[in-house]
Amino acid sequence: ADNLRIALAGLGTVGAGVLRLLAENGDLIAARAGRAIEVVAVSARDRGKDRGVDLSSYAWEDDMTAFAGRDDVDVVVELVGGSDGPALALARKALAGGKGLVTANKAMVAHHGLELARLAEASEAPLRYEAAVAGGIPVIKGLSEGAAANRIERIYGILNGTSNYILSKMETTGRDFGDVLSDAQALGYAEADPTFDIEGVDAGHKLAILASLAFGTQLDFAAVDASGISRIRAADIAQARALGYVIRLIGLADCDERDGTRHLFQRVAPYLVPVRHPLAAVDGPTNAVVAEGNHVGRLLFQGAGAGDGPTASAVVADLVDIARGNRMAPFSQPVDSLVASTPADP
Ligand code: NAP
Ligand code: HSE
Repeated sequence: ADNLRIALAGLGTVGAGVLRLLAENGDLIAARAGRAIEVVAVSARDRGKDRGVDLSSYAWEDDMTAFAGRDDVDVVVELVGGSDGPALALARKALAGGKGLVTANKAMVAHHGLELARLAEASEAPLRYEAAVAGGIPVIKGLSEGAAANRIERIYGILNGTSNYILSKMETTGRDFGDVLSDAQALGYAEADPTFDIEGVDAGHKLAILASLAFGTQLDFAAVDASGISRIRAADIAQARALGYVIRLIGLADCDERDGTRHLFQRVAPYLVPVRHPLAAVDGPTNAVVAEGNHVGRLLFQGAGAGDGPTASAVVADLVDIARGNRMAPFSQPVDSLVASTPADP
């Protein structure tokens, strides 16, 4: 079969990780996907930057939106970030022009997911964003395929690797918040604006995406009640421990139907977790998602929630999905049939 030809926008932590993964596992991926994934063109801000990967065999575009007009590109991979700006311009143009879109950009999906899904539907182009939620954990595939037969009753978990890294490091070392945040930034876990990580916004983006999938509701990030960990001190962590708890930043969503209306509750906040609960043992940049289905019971998805290798793994899994011709979309029903929900009273 013909190669799946991709163009890669963004060559930072995740973009360079995708190139490394494709170079190392390309043959295995081609065998599993039924055809090779071929990088045709790349783009980033600074053409001269050394990224530790050889870019010489790819075309370079200064303007990434030019990918949408290239006849030699089947799928655009957006790894730039930002809810609006160049990432959104590229996503709109690619989908409207019938090209597939794979993105790790939870901010863009949380704010514009409905519009992008409508564009994808109208042009019958694949849209995938596994890497946008919980890094390397295949939680979107797990929910939309593995748990497809279930009514999901509640979904919750640790959705931000940076916050979890900070909390667990403060717990084990007693170090200061700011000091540990710098480490998380240096390790490539944090967002370009780390306040998104520490104030619960990034986890809120991911929670809104998960809730829409779990409950078949329209994505509604504005209704997420989000707070973060920036005011937690080492002394609070020590006090929680003395009482038999650890502190974890948890995103939680549930949904109930009253008077013919769906009421969706979405909250991100620091929770006290009993030391023996499975989420208490989740440390470092690890994420964990618990989904409770009415027939399967409790599912726990756990793994690396941030970093180059794990996130690239999820991006390339989406490309494999598209290469195989899977029709399954993250929204497995027409997007306009998803119900708008009313925020539940807290
Ligand atoms: P990053 O290291 O900051 O890389 C961003 C890339 O985008 C860089 O190559 C940068 O170019 C390019 N870029 C930024 N602004 C641009 C502009 N205006 N025009 C052209 N290129 C531009 O970010 P990242 O960590 O790889 O994250 C990328 C996306 O993946 C984000 O949406 C993020 O939320 C998501 N994500 C990240 C992780 C993670 O662990 N890092 C995990 C899951 C999802 P230069 O290199 O030339 O500056
Ligand atoms: N900044 C994000 C985090 C990256 O720390 O979880 C993964 O989405």
